[in-house]
Amino acid sequence: MSKRKILVTSALPYANGSIHLGHLVEYIQTDIWVRFQKMRGHTVYYVCADDTHGTPIMLRAEKEGITPEALIARVHSEHLGDFNGFHIQFDNYYSTHSAETRHFSEDIYAKLKTAGLITVRSIEQLYDPVKNMFLPDRFVKGECPKCSAKDQYGDSCEVCGAAYTPTELKNPYSAVSGAKPISKFSEHYFFNLSDSRCVDFLRHWACEGDHLQPEAANKMREWVGEAGENKLSDWDISRDAPYFGFEIPDVPGKYFYVWLDAPVGYMGSFKNLCEREKIQFDEFWQPQSDAELYHFIGKDILYFHALFWPAMLQNAKYRTPTKIFAHGFLTVNGEKMSKSRGTFITAESYLRQGLNPEWLRYYYAAKLNSTLEDIDLNLEDFVARVNSDLVGKFINIASRCAGFISKRFAGRLVDGAQYHVLQKMVNEHFATWRPAVIEQAFEAREFSAAIRQIMKFADEANEMIHELAPWEIAKNPDRTDDLQRTCSLGIQLFYLLSRYLKPILPGTVQQIEAFLNCAPLTWPQLNDDQTVSDLLLPAGHIINIYQHLMTRIDSKQIEALTAANTQSLAPVTQNTPVRHAEKQQHAIVPIAETISIDDFSKIDLRIAKIVNAEHVPGAEKLLKLTLDIGSEQRMVFAGIKSAYDPEQLKGRLTVMVANLAPRQMKFGLSEGMVLAAGGGNSGELFILSPDTGAQPGMRVK
Ligand code: 2FM
Ligand code: ZN
Repeated sequence: MSKRKILVTSALPYANGSIHLGHLVEYIQTDIWVRFQKMRGHTVYYVCADDTHGTPIMLRAEKEGITPEALIARVHSEHLGDFNGFHIQFDNYYSTHSAETRHFSEDIYAKLKTAGLITVRSIEQLYDPVKNMFLPDRFVKGECPKCSAKDQYGDSCEVCGAAYTPTELKNPYSAVSGAKPISKFSEHYFFNLSDSRCVDFLRHWACEGDHLQPEAANKMREWVGEAGENKLSDWDISRDAPYFGFEIPDVPGKYFYVWLDAPVGYMGSFKNLCEREKIQFDEFWQPQSDAELYHFIGKDILYFHALFWPAMLQNAKYRTPTKIFAHGFLTVNGEKMSKSRGTFITAESYLRQGLNPEWLRYYYAAKLNSTLEDIDLNLEDFVARVNSDLVGKFINIASRCAGFISKRFAGRLVDGAQYHVLQKMVNEHFATWRPAVIEQAFEAREFSAAIRQIMKFADEANEMIHELAPWEIAKNPDRTDDLQRTCSLGIQLFYLLSRYLKPILPGTVQQIEAFLNCAPLTWPQLNDDQTVSDLLLPAGHIINIYQHLMTRIDSKQIEALTAANTQSLAPVTQNTPVRHAEKQQHAIVPIAETISIDDFSKIDLRIAKIVNAEHVPGAEKLLKLTLDIGSEQRMVFAGIKSAYDPEQLKGRLTVMVANLAPRQMKFGLSEGMVLAAGGGNSGELFILSPDTGAQPGMRVK
């Protein structure tokens, strides 16, 4: 087999959010494939990066009161922690906010410009006159032009599903400042995708070649159109300041749109790796490169990867991708991940609950194939499948045989004549077993098929051990040889199986390598004249004492996981007693008499930070709070003692009425009031919390 040179990427996650189980489908899928190729001895590099540019990241940083650079640095380390936790082994995890990505973005842009594929056009867009910025579609809200539903985004209605442009919204407002947007013209830079050089190339590359899965190629035929048709529109690749990104050379105040430099981040990350490890970048990226380039992505970003990206590369004289592997979305218990059901599970929370990352790797692998179909994480099935396959079938083989080998034979497996008998047994019993099927399944990303084969082998191995029953043999002192051979057989079968599971369970197999006292397992290569028994550990090999390799999942752990993810959404409940998280029946008090806006605006509500909270000696219901409202500190007596422990309140943000006349109470002067819900007959109380980013002193309107 000749050695291949392979460069692999996963989509770059945005630098303003946490990695969740949906993201992990892709990283686990890619990581398994990469580990498989590395085990086969190919030269493989797996690179990724944070996708750091764009308006949402700029605004998020602003909201947190930090620079975008500080935000992306923090998120980078969080993402890396999550990926390491799930054993995703990148050769480089970088950032698009890098000199390398800037260099290639500018280089590609300059080449497209020289080729006459960039045009400038004036376009009209909604503009926030308070924030002085153009508003991306998702930052304009208003009433749906079709069904009049309120608070809909500028591109589509979540109520009736209608798609439209932001200018069609009724009563639009800026989601950034709340101001009414105005229409304004600005010059934008376009990549001429409708140019015949792009259309002809894409019709061939995306629609006819084998670069895409059949379903994806069908989609492309729809988007590109038949010969003679021109369905592709030019692509707007610029954005106006303020924007967090790369300024377009010689065009002050204009930036590359985040989706222009995001895929270039693949090159940037790889270049960074090349510099560090002295790899020849051009060998992988020159037009005639014999290296393979694979992008693993979600099906929602096919448009960018199968149209824009190859057209950019082709016209900038770089190589184009060998294949794009798109996968479907994750559902949990058959539904979209949901924050309220606790199924929007972050990677960090999964790990924090002490769940084994390899359980999830295995379950995803058992579900994954090469199509764009969605995959479902059914939590009950997850528990059952992992316990049955991994613990009940795989690990069980070792745990049933290892003890006898250690205690009765000082860790030594059979040798000599007994070893030959063992080899014969393996060959006879597994005569029809075809490891090549597993290899082909891994290569084709048909992981579920690979697992079916592996588990079939595990079933057969278990049946064999069950029939030979070493625990029975052990009772007969005259059958020592039989016992050593039977247990050696179990260990040898376990060793065989471990190789095939290594791309999926790298951490567990590393422990297995230590237990079996063997070199790191590689992918087994069998010549035509070899049999399965040629893959065994050598005669007389000595293994180490068996240590527990994997525990069963307890369904209580899953309950705790969903509970943790339900709670983490509601900042109010984070520090409050558990009873607050439970749903309570409560009577709805009738709505009060109407007031005018002027009446309401008399109330000055402010974000307040609780800098201190303490009990008040002699007071039954009150806690004494010290509130920081930016300009000053206030002392407030709040009747929330029944619901809150003072220690839990310190450091929290809440909302106070700042212009309420001070009131002299028995215990001192109260200079305002904090807002709380409840307080009826049930005795339940919930103080308010603002969203992340609010600062003490901000007015609440
Ligand atoms: O959809 C996303 O999450 C993007 N951040 C993916 C970018 S992939 C590549 F193009 F950078
Ligand atoms: Zn609608």
